[in-house]
Amino acid sequence: MQRTSILETKDLVGQEVTLCGWIHNRRDHGKLIFIDLRDRSGIVQIVFTPKGAGYDLANQLRSEWVVCIKGKVNPRPEKMFNDEIPTGRIEIEPTDLEVFNKSETPPFPIDTDGYEIGEESRMKYRYVDLRRQRLAKNLAIRHTMAMFIRNWLSDKGFLEVETPILTKSTPEGARDFVVPSRLYPGQFFALPQSPQQYKQLLMVAGVEKYFQLARCFRDEDTRGDRQPEFTQLDMEMSFVEREDVMQLNEGLLIEMVQKIYPQKRIQKIPFPRISYKEAMEKYQTDRPDMRNDNPLADGDLNLLAFCWVVDFPFFEKTQEGGFTFTHNPFSAPKPEDMENLMNKKNIAGILTTQYDIVLNGWEIGGGSIRNHQSEALEKVFEIMGFEKERIEQNFGHMLTAFKNGAPPHGGIAWGFDRLIALLNNEPNIREVMAFPKTGDARDLMMKSPSELEEKQLKELHLKTVK
Ligand code: AMO
Repeated sequence: MQRTSILETKDLVGQEVTLCGWIHNRRDHGKLIFIDLRDRSGIVQIVFTPKGAGYDLANQLRSEWVVCIKGKVNPRPEKMFNDEIPTGRIEIEPTDLEVFNKSETPPFPIDTDGYEIGEESRMKYRYVDLRRQRLAKNLAIRHTMAMFIRNWLSDKGFLEVETPILTKSTPEGARDFVVPSRLYPGQFFALPQSPQQYKQLLMVAGVEKYFQLARCFRDEDTRGDRQPEFTQLDMEMSFVEREDVMQLNEGLLIEMVQKIYPQKRIQKIPFPRISYKEAMEKYQTDRPDMRNDNPLADGDLNLLAFCWVVDFPFFEKTQEGGFTFTHNPFSAPKPEDMENLMNKKNIAGILTTQYDIVLNGWEIGGGSIRNHQSEALEKVFEIMGFEKERIEQNFGHMLTAFKNGAPPHGGIAWGFDRLIALLNNEPNIREVMAFPKTGDARDLMMKSPSELEEKQLKELHLKTVK
């Protein structure tokens, strides 16, 4: 089929075209039937006349039917121009109409921005919801950003490497989603909270510059900026210091914004840096919204205030009186604090190489330089009160790897969904994801989670308690 996309018709006056898409709406004016036909590229007006082709069938058309219309592109009379849409100076005179598929009455309007519609129905009929212009645009710009990032990093010598989804429970602060093993009764895989350990192992493997648009899974309560399943731009580099990672990421963010969001203004370049201590004192949060420092920022939807937060404490006290890590157990302390870590002295005063990147009050990424020497990593676990056996059981593979030629390395991960949401002025990351979970962590369209059949449970050596 020689199909023309709807947007192209604006430059094809006088030509015959074949258009495929959805009935956006139908208006009857006296004997004339006006159809707005929609495809991914836009909307165009089709005018059926009683003597013209397809008139009787056009009378039956309803919203969201899927059709093919052949016709001639005619200029509109000047007083009928609609300059709100790109095709507003032409219309189609149909010569043939074919219905590919009828549709039930849509569960909700899709010619609005959709914020007014309840989550339940939007998520149940997500495939209809995604047809609205706002969401279609979000998906397209997400793709543009992914392509930009991939090309930019690839040009700088990074390799995108996929890491396993079936992995082992890692201590990254959230609860794991687990997958029972059929072959090993009573044993479980965990879905990755992030590819943290694999990316470090890739550094040991000599990959040197790794990135991945990586799916991550965390069994925590859903919020506007948090989903159980989300995407990171994950990165790791060998032979780098903190400054190298920060510079590279700052450069990528700036170039990406300038290229893809030219209407946006970055408040300050280079991005301001603030220590955790100063942030807490001045803003009472470790993700300050620096727009508040800008008297001209009032109501400016296009202002981006990035900042780096650095010098976090490595450890914090637990309720039981011991210590746990604040960010990432694999981080290195700041070089001047390494001695204290190795001697387990002044533990509360040890600072980590952790850097967080914050945008308009949202944490959009974080990373660190890692402990690439097994002795130092072991000290971290000792400070956290882990017994030798537990260290061996949980992290033996990392310690062994670090004894097999581990280069110094460090990296970062961006919350890709969060960044896209902010750049598109969306209040919730589900607006930039194709198939997000609901606020109570369900997929209403697929009806998951769902029960398993007895046979499956048996195969997996599972019994459920109701
Ligand atoms: P962290 O846990 O800080 O670091 O995650 C990195 C970034 O991912 C985003 N993020 C989320 N986005 C949506 N839904 C969630 N549930 C969610 N959780 C986190 C945030 C956050 O800044 N492995 C380390 C990175 C590293 O050290 O290289 C990590 O995962 O924007």
